[in-house]
Parts: sequence; C-alpha cells; structure tokens
Amino acid sequence: MSAASELERLLGLATRLAREAGAIQRASYEAVRTIDSKSQPNDLVAALAEERPHDSVLAEEGGGTEKPGATYRWVIDPLDGTTNYAHGYPRFAVSIGVEREGAQACGVVYDPLLDELYHAVRSGGAFRNGRRISVSREADLRRALVSTGFAYDKAITEDDNTREFRALLKNAREVRRDGSAALDLCYVAGGRFDAYWEFKLKPWDVAAGTLIVTEAGGRVTDTVGGGEFRSGASVLASNGALHAAMLAGLAAAKT
Ligand code: 2AM
Ligand code: CA
Repeated sequence: MSAASELERLLGLATRLAREAGAIQRASYEAVRTIDSKSQPNDLVAALAEERPHDSVLAEEGGGTEKPGATYRWVIDPLDGTTNYAHGYPRFAVSIGVEREGAQACGVVYDPLLDELYHAVRSGGAFRNGRRISVSREADLRRALVSTGFAYDKAITEDDNTREFRALLKNAREVRRDGSAALDLCYVAGGRFDAYWEFKLKPWDVAAGTLIVTEAGGRVTDTVGGGEFRSGASVLASNGALHAAMLAGLAAAKT
C-alpha cells in the first residue's frame, strides 16, 4: 500500500476512534460525578492497540507503548480539557495525532458537544466537518481575539504566565482562557481565535492541533524568538500575520 493511502486509512481509524470516545464523553459528561471517567480513555488506547499492534502509542492516560523501529506513532489525549469535563463545563475534546517516521502525518480533534471534527493530513489542508478551514487575516493585535492557558504548577511557580496574560490582555482585543489546548489550536486554525500561546504543554495536548494550524495556513513556533516548535514545550500558534506582534508582546512581558 502506498504511504498516501496508508495515511488515509489511518486518518479514517483516528476519526472513528475519536468519534467513539467523544460519543461516550457526550453521553456521560452531565452525570460525570457518578461515572468512572478514567475507564473510557483507556478504551480508546486499547481499541487502537488491537487495530495497530505494531505502532507506537503515547497517551496521556497511559496504556500506550513505545515500539522501537515502528513507522507510526500515535500521540493521544483521550480527554483534553479534563477540568472542564469534571465540572460539566462544555469544552473538551479527543485529540489524536499520528507521526510517520517522526514527522507529523495527520491529526484529528473531536469536540463531541458541538459535534465538530477537525482533521488535517500533511500537505492536504485542514478541515472542520469535512469543510476546508483557514486561519484569520487579522493583522492588528488591537483587534485580535487571542487565547491562552495556565499550567497545573501555577500555584507553586513564578513562571506562571500571569505577566504574559496581563500584557496581552492590555494589548489585544480580548484574551480567552478556556481549558483545552487542542480546541484552542483548532480555533486558531478555523479563524475563531487569531492567536494562542501556552507554556509547559505535553506532546498529546498539541500533536494533532499544531498540524491542523499549519495546514490551515497558520504558523506554530516556540514562544521565544519564534524558534522551531518542539512538541511538549511552549507553543505560539497564530494566523501568521500576528506572529511577530505576539512574539514581541510575550517577550516584553518578561522584562
Ligand atoms: P488536560 O485538560 O488534558 O489536562 C489547559 O490550560 C490546557 O493545558 C489543557 O489542554 C490541559 O490538558 C493542558 N495542561 C495544562 N497543564 C498541563 C500539564 N502540566 N501537563 C499536561 N497538560 C497540561
Ligand atoms: Ca491535555
């Protein structure tokens, strides 16, 4: 099978798994306090292992295994936006990224409550529910709606994103903080947000969403100096037009 048709197959599998996991989340989130929410993320990883026994899997809730020499690696957050989910706040998603020989190959993010499925294949564009999406054209930070998030260590560190938050709150039109990195990235891809930054993320938070942003015509880098984005670190995603202004705003906040 050609690499391209193999990727199409993997995209189909990622889509099915994301929809299945999302359907369970949708059915249970209002009754979440009575349900063992830990059981379902593992279901996703177990289903994948059955279908793709030779692929590596890295997953937030565990259960994944590294397979030395594997061509494909799946990087999965079965439930991104855990705090929201636990509180019955309707903003969470399933995120599934697939790497081929270490490079991002395709990604799926599914919001089960809005029934919005985002996907991208490298060099194939980005889509929401099958329709092509692209980043916004906003070039003026003062008119930009930007988004961020705060890491779980915020109570115990000075490096807590509050200076950056203040700087952007003052200089952008508005800042949102809504608790799902995967959806934040998809909202940049679809033009709802003009930019998004966050520190101290993990690979599964961003594996799918960053590809969806770049395939939608946006830019993804580190937060300092616009260096190459390294999965698992800090991320700045933007429509491209605002990237320099965002980098400058974040840098100025440090001083
Ligand atoms: P989660 O809901 O899966 O835990 C919130 O700002 C966003 O960042 C969410 O996507 C959240 O993922 C993620 N996040 C925040 N702090 C994190 C940490 N220390 N490790 C991993 N993900 C984190
Ligand atoms: Ca996450």
